[in-house]
Amino acid sequence: MTRDTDRPVAIVTGASRSQGRAIALRLAREGYDLSLAARSEEAMRDLQQDLANEGAYSLVTAVDLTDCEERKVFVARTLAEMGRVDILVNNAAVSSLVKFVDAEWEDVSHQIDLNLEAPMHLSHLVLGDMVNRGSGKIVNISSIATSASLPVLTTYRTTRSGLEYFTKALRSELEGTGVSVTAVLPSGIADPRMTKSLEAGSGVRLEGAVAMGIVSATKIANDVVAVIKNDKVEKVLVA
Ligand SMILES: NC(=O)c1ccc[n+]([C@@H]2O[C@H](COP(=O)([O-])OP(=O)(O)OC[C@H]3O[C@@H](n4cnc5c(N)ncnc54)[C@H](OP(=O)(O)O)[C@@H]3O)[C@@H](O)[C@H]2O)c1
Repeated sequence: MTRDTDRPVAIVTGASRSQGRAIALRLAREGYDLSLAARSEEAMRDLQQDLANEGAYSLVTAVDLTDCEERKVFVARTLAEMGRVDILVNNAAVSSLVKFVDAEWEDVSHQIDLNLEAPMHLSHLVLGDMVNRGSGKIVNISSIATSASLPVLTTYRTTRSGLEYFTKALRSELEGTGVSVTAVLPSGIADPRMTKSLEAGSGVRLEGAVAMGIVSATKIANDVVAVIKNDKVEKVLVA
């Protein structure tokens, strides 16, 4: 499929399944072409076909976003092949249901790299171009878990809170540039691997954020498009 260079471009991370997939499809219906990032190339190739059916060109990059060099290559490839980035949706994240005191440091570090450092780095990599053009939008998917009472999610909650803080701080720094940043904070997401793996075998019942209700991936995707259009500082999503 050849790309129509008049179409705006959106990056979606964690696009191989669940809400990342839904967000990419929703943006395609809004007229965006997509640059997709995750590790599972095959799943993104499936999505690429669905995006083509919506009339959207997409670029698939299998990338481990915990790796600083891979992030640089991914954004450079997007800019080289698609010309610009109008929207960055930082969606990819992982969590572990383990007490901080019992956690392997490698796991803590992995969550910090993917959930906080990667969105900050990707923002840094696309912002120069956005500010030069005087337009662009970054949407950071965080979680309502930042403010809920959840046991054994200390690292995850810390990374999500950090992302929320980064969103607010960067938003004020960017005032007047034409570029803005918004956080979307869902409660539980319908049938994602994340929630399942959290409860699997842990013996810990998730309360708090998940008890606030399960939000469908479609609703989250619709709200991502709504905040792109309405430019809110933050959007909390509960069922
Ligand atoms: N699940 C919930 O109930 C819930 C609630 C509130 C907020 N959220 C937020 O919603 C977002 C998505 O959550 P989800 O439940 O949709 O997660 P998910 O189903 O586990 O999907 C995570 C995505 O991230 C990608 N990913 C994981 N590790 C990666 C890595 N090292 N490099 C690149 N990509 C990687 C995965 O693809 P690959 O495995 O192919 O790499 C997948 O596409 C997160 O920001 C999360 O904080 C989730």
